[in-house]
Amino acid sequence: MNIKNICCIGAGYVGGPTMAVIAQKCPEINVTVVDINEERIKAWNDENVENIPIYEPGLPEVVKEARGRNLFFSTDVDAAIDKADMIFISVNTPTKTYGIGKGMAADLKFIELCARQIARVAKDDKIVVEKSTLPVRTAEALKNILDNTGNGVNYQILSNPEFLAEGTAVDDLMNPDRVLIGGDIDTAKGKEAVDALVDVYAHWVPRERLLTTNVWSSELSKLTANAFLAQRVSSINAMSELCEKTGADVNEVSKAVGMDSRIGAKFLKSSVGFGGSCFQKDILNLVYISKSFGLHEVADYWEQVIIMNDHQKRRFAAKIVQTLFNTVSGKKIALLGWAFKKDTNDTRESAAIYVADYLLNEQAEIVVYDPKVKTEQIYADLDYLNTRSLEENRARVTVVDGAYEATKDAHAVAVLTEWDEFKELDWQKIYKEMLKPAFLFDGRRLLERKTKEGIGFEFYAIGS
Ligand code: UDX
Ligand code: UDX
Ligand code: ADP
Repeated sequence: MNIKNICCIGAGYVGGPTMAVIAQKCPEINVTVVDINEERIKAWNDENVENIPIYEPGLPEVVKEARGRNLFFSTDVDAAIDKADMIFISVNTPTKTYGIGKGMAADLKFIELCARQIARVAKDDKIVVEKSTLPVRTAEALKNILDNTGNGVNYQILSNPEFLAEGTAVDDLMNPDRVLIGGDIDTAKGKEAVDALVDVYAHWVPRERLLTTNVWSSELSKLTANAFLAQRVSSINAMSELCEKTGADVNEVSKAVGMDSRIGAKFLKSSVGFGGSCFQKDILNLVYISKSFGLHEVADYWEQVIIMNDHQKRRFAAKIVQTLFNTVSGKKIALLGWAFKKDTNDTRESAAIYVADYLLNEQAEIVVYDPKVKTEQIYADLDYLNTRSLEENRARVTVVDGAYEATKDAHAVAVLTEWDEFKELDWQKIYKEMLKPAFLFDGRRLLERKTKEGIGFEFYAIGS
């Protein structure tokens, strides 16, 4: 079966870049990305490709090449569903904030709405692909809705989890370690659907990297991969605290253990805590699923990864307060970086949000500079916590356009995102314009201790 028209529901951090790359690599397939958010679609269609709604290195070039040729962004969801042979569902699946499973389970209401919309609109057979990370056995629920509310057409459900990391999305999509496609491979129709998606990726991904499994293995593999990755960060962060007590250096420890080929060197960088839309959500989800099957030891094991991460964020903020003579009340503290990692404007679950909130509870005055995050987003992140009024957040937090402006007259500076430009700053100038003693807290092991202490900073870095 040859796919001619693809529709993707959800023009976010996953759907947008993934579809842009598919369109670029498969010029004969028409790809339409739809979203109910009009503003977002307008931004994707902005004449100036630099204004697309997500910041991702290399993405504007890909969009520029394919947009208008075979890549389209639209709010007409029904029309795109109707025309498509294959529909990707790439909507958000946040952790539930109400009812059963609150704070743990994934909220599938957006997925369900999509399924019902597809069922209502579709007049011929469709392949429906889960792209969003979902709890195991969501495919079954999707199929149930489609088969029972649809117009009698045939649906094949595939699971095709996305493994791209933000900040390197384009490169990850162009050269994936593997592409995982789960489907009903025991039936002829299911096999045909899997093959159709395999053929799409085979335009640029070597066949040996295209893995096919049953649907549930695919769904669970995505949760497992994210849980393992997050666990590595929590493991090294646990060691960072021990390093600080013993005189070991966590970077030296990472390097030494990472050279063991059984362990591997990647993803062992100690930090102020992992963030991002996936890790916490997926682990909570894993914990919830395990509990629902009565697997309490399994649930507790994974929950500890989150507990450690929360501890790391809190510990870093507490260190600032403690170092500043046990009070930051009325003191200006500059936060460099707000995004959850460099090279993205995404702030979901960013450690910076929690560090700021902690310091605000201690009555600090916060000044934030991030190269790519918009001011409204920073306030929205703080407001979302509901810790204090919207007015108070705006009165106590200032967002500025540059690192020098942020750090001038500050009591302390904390580096919370590893943006390259923070390494290149004139730290001598920053020191001169800060209050003394000038405290510098490196939550990313970005800066060199020797030179910073040489300038005169009171320097603290995670894990040393
Ligand atoms: C271990 C370390 O590997 C080694 O670096 C250190 O010097 C001493 O401890 P060892 O205990 O000899 O070495 O064997 P290892 O191969 O690590 O296996 C340890 C246990 O883990 C075994 O019972 C093995 O069966 C089990 N294992 C290992 C698994 O169950 N699954 C695996 O994937 C790997
Ligand atoms: C992650 C997975 O990597 C990706 O495969 C999946 O599709 C989505 O979730 P992402 O959240 O975009 O991707 O970024 P990632 O690079 O994994 O970083 C997650 C968080 O961990 C960031 O806050 C990052 O700063 C932190 N991190 C990562 C560390 O603190 N140390 C590390 O060594 C690596
Ligand atoms: P992700 O990181 O998973 O891509 P995002 O939040 O960036 O998540 O993107 C998800 C997108 O899905 C949002 O732009 C949201 O407006 C869109 N969306 C959610 N529900 C629907 C729906 N029923 N129809 C169309 N778009 C939807």
